[in-house]
Amino acid sequence: GRGAYPHYMLKEIYEQPETLANAMRGRLTEADSTAHFGGLNLSAQQLRQIDRVVMTACGTSYHAAMVGEYLFEELARLPVEVEYASELRYRNPPMDRNTVVLALTQSGETADTLAALRESKRMGHTTLAICNAVGSSIAREADGGVYLHAGAEIGVASTKAFTSQVAVLTMLALYLGRTRHLSSTQGQRIIDDLHALPEAVRQALRCHDHVKRVAAKYAHAKNVLYLGRQYLYPVALEGALKLKEISYIHAEGYPAAEMKHGPIALVDPNTPSVFLVPRGSVFDKVMSNMQEIKARGGPVIAIASAGDREVAAVADDVIAIPDVPEYLQPIVTAIPLQLLAYEVALLCGCDVDKPRNLAKSVTVE
Ligand code: F6R
Repeated sequence: GRGAYPHYMLKEIYEQPETLANAMRGRLTEADSTAHFGGLNLSAQQLRQIDRVVMTACGTSYHAAMVGEYLFEELARLPVEVEYASELRYRNPPMDRNTVVLALTQSGETADTLAALRESKRMGHTTLAICNAVGSSIAREADGGVYLHAGAEIGVASTKAFTSQVAVLTMLALYLGRTRHLSSTQGQRIIDDLHALPEAVRQALRCHDHVKRVAAKYAHAKNVLYLGRQYLYPVALEGALKLKEISYIHAEGYPAAEMKHGPIALVDPNTPSVFLVPRGSVFDKVMSNMQEIKARGGPVIAIASAGDREVAAVADDVIAIPDVPEYLQPIVTAIPLQLLAYEVALLCGCDVDKPRNLAKSVTVE
């Protein structure tokens, strides 16, 4: 049950320090500075031969896959394409035998994802799955895979599954990277960063009271923009999806620099923008994107590194998160966005655990 929590969604948001620890438990080994998985079922030769990964998924799992693209590129130097399962299943993209197809799915029962996986198998590809539901159709049919061990996710809006999917993708990128170019020192650093992650998420959850106040200021909005770059571009998409699905407020995510190519026309004093702007390699770039919005009269809510005065001087509201390495920022920045969607939905009187028109597992095409 949901215990003392008023909704499953809130319980699942608060479970994330533990679910992340569960995703990592027993999988990170100091002796060889890498990750290990019991069920990948890849021979050493197959592993070396992988030269491309096609990730496929729907909805929130698709956003996790998009983070995976950045992770695999940076940590494993592997080319990745991310495809909506509903599109991939009816396409016939040229892929060679060394392309692995990786399906991401919380439920393991999503009809389009299952069909894309079957089609990939039929074409002779090795298929892997990152699943939460043990023994689900996709978990059974993939050649190999990794479980999230996040426990049942009951809230229709996916929260803890998203962060665990990204954590598993990080560990997979570490594993693949270590069979290629990552040194043991680099591998060990990633392991140390991952070990510190549950505590960083625990700290990020402390923004909740502040998020509640921010939600009250903006719950009347009809449109909300979510903006981020690089690792945080997929998180902007995910933040927008969370708000849309449980509060029914229209929201869009964009790579922050795309605004000037059209969407900035939407900006006015009633259209808030949520900026993902923690310190990192693109900080200055995102800051200038944020100034462009302010200059056009758009209210700005910034998710930023604790104590960042430069951000505070521009944004109307700043929600602080702890500093983590850039490749782990998707997990930490997702927390305030989940809480923001939850609080806005409550203020709008919506049923957060059972949003209209949605089902937890989409088993029809
Ligand atoms: C959004 C959400 C959906 C699912 C999507 C895929 O919060 O939950 O977008 O992510 O239906 O579901 P799975 O991961 O079960 O394949």
